[in-house]
Amino acid sequence: MTITTLDKPSAKPLLDWYDRHHRDLPWRVSPDMAARGVKADPYHVWLSEVMLQQTTVQAVKPYFARFLERWPHVTDLADADNDAVMAAWAGLGYYARARNLKKCAEAVAREHGGVFPNTEEGLKSLPGIGDYTAAAVAAIAFNRQAAVMDGNVERVISRLYAIATPLPAAKPLMKEKVALLTPAARPGDFAQAMMDLGATICTPKRPACSLCPFRDDACQALKLSEPELFPVKAAKKEKPVRYGAAFIAVTGDGEILLRRRIDSGLLGGMTEVPTSAWTARIDGEVSTAAAPFDAAWQACGTVIHVFTHFELRLSIWRAAIAAKISTNDGWWEPVTNLEAQALPTVMKKAIATAIPLAFKTSKG
Ligand code: ADE
Repeated sequence: MTITTLDKPSAKPLLDWYDRHHRDLPWRVSPDMAARGVKADPYHVWLSEVMLQQTTVQAVKPYFARFLERWPHVTDLADADNDAVMAAWAGLGYYARARNLKKCAEAVAREHGGVFPNTEEGLKSLPGIGDYTAAAVAAIAFNRQAAVMDGNVERVISRLYAIATPLPAAKPLMKEKVALLTPAARPGDFAQAMMDLGATICTPKRPACSLCPFRDDACQALKLSEPELFPVKAAKKEKPVRYGAAFIAVTGDGEILLRRRIDSGLLGGMTEVPTSAWTARIDGEVSTAAAPFDAAWQACGTVIHVFTHFELRLSIWRAAIAAKISTNDGWWEPVTNLEAQALPTVMKKAIATAIPLAFKTSKG
């Protein structure tokens, strides 16, 4: 059942709830701060929104702090070394975001005098800024009445209107509903309130409906006593499983062979250990046939890593060699310096399988 003829629920109970129960987040100007005259910084809002796509608030916090410490203004990020940005991003995943982040900072610095455009349209003209980021930055940084929809908001709105059309087909209808509900006053707080409600109350499992500002009569899913039925999702396709091998060569001096992936495609521009030629579409060799050189390669186990469109099973091979072997594909890096490299999580897992104490922290 799709209910499309409801009177529009009011945003007021949600904003009242947000005033009392909002999360304090490092990039956020909370209602009490706003009352003291604090203004949102568009650079902080944009950086956090790009980082938060596909990543949790908890995972993003330390990255956000490190980026701001190192590159306090968008112009600093524009001038930053590309590899340094990739290394600082390593562990956050979806590396195309980091490449676009840098390009966007450059566009803001060089084409807009270091000032972010303050409309959805203007923001969308920047590299890497799509519908979501443009709406979020326009609403949160510039108080524009933009409809912001992420996964949390989708869940809240699908329950509020008991939208029976499955995702992703329901997205346009959901966006329409969010646009109708977004108030002219405080649209940025409204967007963040929807996100906080989805993250803390209107959760995928066992939502805390008794604490919800929409509990009285607005929420149609609650009226049906079935909030967990929403959002309805189209049946998921099984992810294909891909196979490959990764090679960790360690010298007597404690150096390891690394190389840089090409700029385009999956993990583009990131650092890796040599691997066989696996991709999202083809398996790679799992034996030592693709090893970078002959050595006494020993099997250390298998790393399983789940990407968006496939699961990768990497056979891990390790060889202890007396001294560096010269190579024109990569470089030798001290194991003690691995934390500073742009190693994506799958590569950290591969290295840690061969060298258990390679990473002391688990920040990515
Ligand atoms: N998730 C994505 N953007 C967010 C924001 N601004 N506040 C809370 N959660 C978020």
